[in-house]
Order: sequence, then structure tokens, then C-alpha cells
Amino acid sequence: MAVTIVIGTQWGDEGKAKIVDYYAQDADLVVRFQGGANAGHTVKVNDEQFIFHLVPCGAIYPDKRCVIGNGVVVDPKALLEEIDQLLGQGVDVIDRLQISENAHLVMPYHKLTDGLSEASRGSGAIGTTKRGIGPCYVDKVARTEALRMGDLLDPADSRRRVADAVVDKNAVLTKVFGHDPMDADEIADEYLAYSERLGGCIVDTGIVLADAVKSGESVLLEGAQGTLLDVDHGTFPFVTSSNTTAGGACTGTGIGPTQISKVVGTVKAYTSRVGNGPFPTEFETEFGDEMRKEWGEFGASTGRPRRIGWFDAVITRYSARVNGLTDLALTSMDRLDILPELKICVTYEIEGQEVVNFPTRLSVLEKAKPIYETLPGWETSTQEARVFDDLPDNAQRYLRRIEELTGVPVATAGVGPNRHEVVAVGD
Ligand code: GDP
Ligand code: IMO
Ligand code: MG
Repeated sequence: MAVTIVIGTQWGDEGKAKIVDYYAQDADLVVRFQGGANAGHTVKVNDEQFIFHLVPCGAIYPDKRCVIGNGVVVDPKALLEEIDQLLGQGVDVIDRLQISENAHLVMPYHKLTDGLSEASRGSGAIGTTKRGIGPCYVDKVARTEALRMGDLLDPADSRRRVADAVVDKNAVLTKVFGHDPMDADEIADEYLAYSERLGGCIVDTGIVLADAVKSGESVLLEGAQGTLLDVDHGTFPFVTSSNTTAGGACTGTGIGPTQISKVVGTVKAYTSRVGNGPFPTEFETEFGDEMRKEWGEFGASTGRPRRIGWFDAVITRYSARVNGLTDLALTSMDRLDILPELKICVTYEIEGQEVVNFPTRLSVLEKAKPIYETLPGWETSTQEARVFDDLPDNAQRYLRRIEELTGVPVATAGVGPNRHEVVAVGD
């Protein structure tokens, strides 16, 4: 397996966690490389549900080492809550968790300004998770007031850095947003207390990963969000603030591109999106409401209703290109079991022209009308299927059509939320 990347090909929530859990069986280390606690990654094992936000979901296996790479933005409060929640579910991860000293810290003022900025955008709001992700990456790129995990190892220095940052943050909080100022000492005390528990995890993960690769261990890189939420390749500005695509796995870990052996794109058998922005194949309101209820499409992090729609092959073709996908992991195929016919968007019509490539300019994408082909449904349960031949003929046809339209082979098809509910399609 060497180094395998698993990413989302749509707008997130494709079922990446279940696919990471599947590939983690053969991995020694599972690594998060971007994003933060905006992620909500669900794995079900014998109907027990585990939801991960910052901890790599390979943690469920007691022998896997877990790494949070330099590209992640870490909210230590959220991380410790998650570690404790997992412990309550019998997953003890802290002694096998390593966190990059260069991963940036999400601070209380990042979370506060995320919410305040969203409120000030009014109808132009992005619909963020309000986890402080955007403001934290802003400070990283601005280079001036940022704090990183490694800074926590030097209490006096962290205290000074927090004090410096809070002066500027308070100016914005009070003068721009009319909000009360924050107390630098309180923040420093809080974060230094977190470092007492997390301090032993903070290392140079670049060396850890290089050593692992060199000694022939298998490394699995777990993406968060999805290709269309990538800050460069997504539906800007309705995106997150990191590179969610496969390239982000290299910059977010320090593993070079020549070490990557496989890039698995997780793709829902239909499409979903949380937050604002264009969505060409979105269902009409009434049908969407009915299907959302049927499929339980509510956010794993925020509980917000997810917008849902038909499968969009224009998006998956685009994802195949920008991620260099080697395999597709189709998920939630079983949710289509109830539908008599299924639509697949094959191209868009934009101002009377048929368009094959996904338009990356918002003003163009907003005009895109999906051109559909209709396939017959299978109207029978797929949940017990484990090999390709177990799938009903029409389900096999649907899957093969997705391969044809995107040019990427499907390796697995998800037929239920539980760990074992997977059809092995490839070798
Ligand atoms: P992620 O963020 O990409 O890891 O996905 P989420 O965990 O946010 O959302 C995916 C949802 O679909 C979760 O509730 C999963 O338990 C569920 N899920 C994943 N794969 C399948 C599948 O093949 N079938 C069904 N029915 N549910 C699935
Ligand atoms: P996983 O890893 C779905 C969306 C938000 C919003 C936009 C920006 O579970 O797939 P942010 O808080 O990141 O600044 O919000 O991105 N978003 C997600 N949507 N799944 C996610 O994560 C998401 N993480 C962020 O809804 O539209
Ligand atoms: Mg999710």
C-alpha cells in the first residue's frame, strides 16, 4: 500500500471516514493533512457510531498510529474533547497520537471572528461551520500573529505571542464588530493547560512520516472536506480555507509527491452539500426534503440539513483530473435502492452550449443547467451485497456508467454505514 491518499470528490461528507477505515486495515499510520474540527467523519462498527473531527479515524483500530500533520489547524479544546469522547467509547488514542509542531493553533478569537464575519456577510454568507478555520488559515498565511503547536512547548514565549496577538485582535473585535475585547492572560492560561495533556504528542511529524515510508510501513492520508471545497479548485468563495485535493496531502504532511502510490476519490452515489453556493443537480425542495429525511442527511459536525441532488459526472470528471485519481470509492449506493429511476448529470448546458468541463468561475457555474440521462433503478436491497456479482443488474449498470463517465475504475461500493457493508469491485 505504501502511501495512499483518500480524498472527497464532491462537497464533503462523501463517506470518506468509512473508506479510510476500510483502507486502514492495511495501514500502519493514518494521517490527517488539512482542515480542522470543521470535519465530521463517521464510522459505524456493529452499529456503534464514532464521529471524528481532528483525530484520524484509523484510531478505532488499537494498533494504528495516528498523526495530525502540519497542514491541519488544531483547536486543542476540540481535540481534547474528542480524545475524551473516544476514550468513553473504548478508543484510547493519546499515547499513539502525534501532532506536528508546525500545525497552526485555532485560537478563541478565530472562532469568535468566524461567527462575527459570517453574520456581517448577511445573504452573502459562506455558511461556515464557525470552527474558526478561515480566520486561523488567514493568520497562517499572514505570518504575523500565528501560533503553532510547537509554540506551546515554550510557555513564556506562548504567553508573549498570545498577548501580542490579542492586542490586534481586540482592535478588530471592538472597532469593527463592536464586540467586547478578549483577555490575553485567560487565553494563555487555557492553552497552556491544554499543552499539559497534549505536550507529549507534539513532534516533527515530517521525520516520523519519512522514517515510516523509508522502513516500508504503510501510510494512509485522510482528507477532509471535498474537492469542490478546495480553496484553489473549489467553488470559490463558497469553499473552505485549505487545499482539500490530493496535492494538499503532500504539503500538509511533508511527504513528497513521488512517494504517493494511490489516490482514492470517495464519491457519493448522489451529491450533497452543506453551506451556501451553487449546486447544479440539487433536488427540487419537496423531493429534497423527502430524501433528506429518508437518508438522514444532516451534518455530522453541525447537525445542519444537507442539500442533496443527483449524481453529477461533470464534477467527478473534474475531481479525477485535479486529484489524479487512481480509484473511486462509491458510497451510499444502498440509499438509491428505493428509487424507480435515477438521473446522472453527464454535461451542463450553459447559455445554449453543451459544456463537458466543470466551470470554475462562479458566475458561469451559476448558469449551468444539468443535462441528464436516466437509468432504471433496481428497487431491491443491496445491503447484503459483498462482491460485484451480488449487486442487481441495474446497480451494476449504474456503477459501470459512473466509471465510463469519469474514466476512473470503481474499487469499492458502499452498501450501508457499517464497516463491513462494502462491495469489493476491483481486484
Ligand atoms: P465524511 O465526512 O466524508 O467522512 O462523511 P460523513 O461521516 O460526514 O457522512 C457520511 C454519512 O454516510 C455518515 O452518516 C456515514 O455513516 C454514512 N455512510 C457512509 N457510507 C455509507 C454507505 O455506503 N451507505 C450508507 N447508507 N451510509 C453510509
Ligand atoms: P467533512 O470532512 C461538508 C463547508 C461548510 C461551508 C464551507 C466553509 O466532514 O467532509 P469552514 O467552516 O470550513 O470555513 O466552512 O465548507 N464544510 C464542509 N461541508 N463536510 C465538511 O467536512 C465540511 N467542512 C467544511 O459547510 O460551506
Ligand atoms: Mg462529514
